Amino acid sequence: MEKHAQIDARAATELLTRCARAQVRDLPAYNAGLSSELVRQRYGAQQVSRLASNENPFGASPKVAQALTAMLTNVGLYPDANCLALRAAIASRTGAQAQEIVVGNGSENLLELLCLSFLSPGDPVLTLLPSFGLHEIYPRMMGADVHMLPVSSALEFDVDAWCAALSQKAAPKMVILSNPSNPVGCMLDVGAFRRLVRAAPLETLLVIDEAYYEYALHSPGFPDALTELRAQPRPWMVLRTFSKAWGLAGLRVGYGIASHACLVQMLDRVRTPFNVNMAAQMAALAAWSDPDHMAASVRATVVQRDLMGAQLRALGLTVAPSATNFLFLDLHRPNGPVAEALLWRGIIIKPWKEAGYETFIRVSVGTEADNQRFVNALADILRQQALH
Ligand SMILES: Cc1ncc(COP(=O)(O)O)c(C=O)c1O
Repeated sequence: MEKHAQIDARAATELLTRCARAQVRDLPAYNAGLSSELVRQRYGAQQVSRLASNENPFGASPKVAQALTAMLTNVGLYPDANCLALRAAIASRTGAQAQEIVVGNGSENLLELLCLSFLSPGDPVLTLLPSFGLHEIYPRMMGADVHMLPVSSALEFDVDAWCAALSQKAAPKMVILSNPSNPVGCMLDVGAFRRLVRAAPLETLLVIDEAYYEYALHSPGFPDALTELRAQPRPWMVLRTFSKAWGLAGLRVGYGIASHACLVQMLDRVRTPFNVNMAAQMAALAAWSDPDHMAASVRATVVQRDLMGAQLRALGLTVAPSATNFLFLDLHRPNGPVAEALLWRGIIIKPWKEAGYETFIRVSVGTEADNQRFVNALADILRQQALH
């Protein structure tokens, strides 16, 4: 039998590290957290509470299952490369033109396409600290110079610092801002949003990531970003997703609404032609046709979030104000051991790893039962730690 020449793992690592693009060599991989299966295996958990990925515990509309069943006979065909039906449906409810809408394999795909299309090595990009990982990783993948503006000590957007940074001589090529923010959950209200947008140079591409839009609509003062931005002569894109309020995280659909159709055309040049598969398109259309289901799950989540926030504050923890389906809280002690102790009880949360936030965790709002399990377990762990 032919013997293949072997290259050992260390030599392979050295070779591939040398060959990789310089920007990729130092790039952190996105921390997607632990799967339920892994937690069952590694921690022997019988029951797993998934509170790390801001999923919707109420799931998608029943119409989604019907649409997916009906689709099964067509899986031998390519999906619509242009998502025409879905873009038309989104256009009719958002007031955008279909040609100003782009659909992605999750909104993370659209963040990637924006960076691929617009960023070159050295381009300045402004984003928030702490951040949604991909707001930093994708620009860095392109070699952009990412500047991160910390939230204030009250865990709010530091609007003065943003306006000052936006008024610097070297205009940022792109601003990537989640409103409300992930992981903090804080929100720019309409006045702050207007100030920030007006401070941004006209040639800066504003990317406003509204992954938690449907939840934020329950927070008084949340800006109507589309109306605000349409009043501005500048390029922008607003990103939204079917992964959270619409309950479709597993199928990967996000959309962007752009200031100009030509911005969508730029992304079309760099995306894989069939970036949104058939199941994803059919499911998103079905979910979109049932806004009442989505609205009911969002209402229930907002009630649970406020209840959980009050319970956590009663434990003496600092909980950031949240306009989303998660809470960001300061445990006032290293988050690693607490997260590990929660895993032994089958509860997955996200211990934050960015420098300066190692005492914080982010916890998603789940079902009432999961939330209570989490609060009780956390109280117990903190009590035990205090005794040792
Ligand atoms: C702020 C923000 N943007 C984008 C995403 C990505 O969402 P999607 O599932 O649509 O890729 C997330 C997911 O957690 C998020 O929190």
